[in-house]
Amino acid sequence: AAIEKGGYDHFMLKEIFEQPQTIYDCLRGRLDATAGTITMSGVEKYAEQIMNANRIVMVACGTSWHAGLVAEYIFEELCRINVEVEYASEFRYRNPVINKGDVIIAISQSGETADTLVAIENAKAKGAIILGVVNVVGSSIARISDAGAYTHAGPEIGVASTKAFTAQLAVLTMIALKVAHMKGSIDQQRYIHLLKELDAIPEKVTRLLEQEEQIKKLAEKYKDAQDFLFLGRGYNFPVALEGALKLKEISYIHAEGYPAAEMKHGPIALVDENLPVVFIATKDSYHEKVISNMQEIKARKGKVIAIITEGDEHSTALANDVIVVPEADEIVAPMLSTIPTQLLAYYIGVAKDFDVDKPRNLAKSVTVE
Ligand code: G6P
Repeated sequence: AAIEKGGYDHFMLKEIFEQPQTIYDCLRGRLDATAGTITMSGVEKYAEQIMNANRIVMVACGTSWHAGLVAEYIFEELCRINVEVEYASEFRYRNPVINKGDVIIAISQSGETADTLVAIENAKAKGAIILGVVNVVGSSIARISDAGAYTHAGPEIGVASTKAFTAQLAVLTMIALKVAHMKGSIDQQRYIHLLKELDAIPEKVTRLLEQEEQIKKLAEKYKDAQDFLFLGRGYNFPVALEGALKLKEISYIHAEGYPAAEMKHGPIALVDENLPVVFIATKDSYHEKVISNMQEIKARKGKVIAIITEGDEHSTALANDVIVVPEADEIVAPMLSTIPTQLLAYYIGVAKDFDVDKPRNLAKSVTVE
């Protein structure tokens, strides 16, 4: 087992550190930033239907559902197509309205999650086109999909999903860019800029992983907290949800992810000097608003841990602790900003001596309801 872990203490850590490579593998052979092309045969096959779709529905569970939420923001911005993101378990049972030609994107690491599988079987029977964004080649969801794109992240052993999530983001971003380009809803300059930004992600992930030691120290400092809040807006709102989920899964600390502004409608009541609040606060079009939410937490003596863009001194001055990530366009930023939350969860779990690769009560793949 030690050999399988490649020198790392746990699969989870190994998989976190594989991300520069797995994101690269996912882009490789598809993205050509110099030529300005994205090659995805599955998307090409259904190009007309996707471009003309009245709406796209993302169906998934768990971490994969969070990837769908990020994709909602990206697709709506770039493709100007209405997107809905559904929990597979809810979607399958509530007799959803599905019209012929609706495009459904099923997102799944394992390709075997029962609820996701049945949800798309039902939708397919009603005439929807199913695209799969799946990691495991030849899995049930991959087979039942009409077309799709594999995430190529390699086997994920740690129960808490890490590298599969960033690979899902990479694939979904490529699909959105491809559709936007075909549709003409993105201008050429922005399109080329985003291809380059995507291309630069693996190297930026390598750089941000250099903060491992510092994140480990933060884990020591905050490991005894009873609760955590994770806040973000826009593209980083789903990253906040995912950060909270990861912490719950691995450290058994109660955590909630919330849209930063919405916290005024409830979670702010929990804020006192014992509550660590992780802000996903990289520089983007929401940044000023996030800063003012940070000030509101500070004013109530909450401990602010901010994930910020390199060189952002204003946020550094406000926060109790910071983790910096390389600058990136907001469309691709979630692939970076999510990684410190993975490491934080990992090191808190390790500090508490929990079995981070196999957290209690959780399964890698939920193949029964
Ligand atoms: C389980 C796993 C999660 C995963 C979810 C969906 O709960 O523990 O890590 O996100 O299932 O799985 P899928 O394979 O469909 O992405």
